[in-house]
Amino acid sequence: MAGSRPQAFITGASSGIGEAFARRLAREGCDLVLVARRRERLEALAAELRAAPGVEVEVLPADLTLEPDLRRAVGRVQELGRLAYLINNAGFGTLGRFHEAEAAGQVDMHRLHVVAAVALTRAALPGMIERRAGAVVNVSSVAAFTMNPGSVSYCATKAWMNAFSEGLYLEMKAARVPVRIQALCPGFTYSEFHDVLGMDRSAIPKGWWMQAGDVVEESLRGLGRDRLIVVPGARYRLLVAFLRAVPRPLLNWFMLRYGSRYRRRRT
Ligand SMILES: NC(=O)c1ccc[n+]([C@@H]2O[C@H](COP(=O)([O-])OP(=O)(O)OC[C@H]3O[C@@H](n4cnc5c(N)ncnc54)[C@H](OP(=O)(O)O)[C@@H]3O)[C@@H](O)[C@H]2O)c1
Repeated sequence: MAGSRPQAFITGASSGIGEAFARRLAREGCDLVLVARRRERLEALAAELRAAPGVEVEVLPADLTLEPDLRRAVGRVQELGRLAYLINNAGFGTLGRFHEAEAAGQVDMHRLHVVAAVALTRAALPGMIERRAGAVVNVSSVAAFTMNPGSVSYCATKAWMNAFSEGLYLEMKAARVPVRIQALCPGFTYSEFHDVLGMDRSAIPKGWWMQAGDVVEESLRGLGRDRLIVVPGARYRLLVAFLRAVPRPLLNWFMLRYGSRYRRRRT
């Protein structure tokens, strides 16, 4: 990838929020490295984005839960000399209680949300710090602010993402380096997430759904303002303010009563 344009490395770029980041950052003038398992989806998106003059798009098919694939992705991040954005976005959810859910899926969720994010961020930061420019966006969730029985690994890994982002944000400030760190915490967003999860979207009222493009716009605006936690949508900002204000034992009582009832009905 020769040239002088900023580069963006986006995981989970084959659909949903990751694809929306790819489209938006291509419009902003970035060259892209697109990562996900479905090569054909990445190739189709890359072909479309390359139609714009000057845009270079590289496809890196990888299952980031697999060590050799993750090593390959890390190696590519280390090679990018103009990396402006690392978007740790690839993710999925599962339904059902932890002790009953398929064990491999639970472990893979931690590999993807936690281990891959750690490895890619560790690979990206030294170059960004040296260039004194760049941003890491960890795509977390509103779920990070609660613990929902039936979604334990998801809530736990997203809460970890917020904590990880907060630590890095403070380290960048302590080192006086203008590298931006963000935990992006969307609520219900139209994407393939709920198809993969096997959840009926109609169970959630329409007003709670956001478009992936709007989530991305709020993320980029948040980067401009150096916001650590970005919750897209006024409705969700209000909800998160409430979740953060409620004493945790009371919140847990509520989630046990209503969160688990919801899960039982769906599984
Ligand atoms: N949609 C929502 O309501 C919502 C709400 C809050 C947070 N989020 C978060 O937003 C992020 C993006 O999700 P989305 O809503 O855009 O869902 P999505 O449309 O299902 O996209 C998920 C992306 O992750 C990729 N992916 C999944 N497993 C992977 C693996 N093992 N290795 C590499 N790539 C993998 C998928 O591509 P392949 O299948 O091609 O690998 C896909 O590109 C996730 O982290 C999710 O937790 C979503």
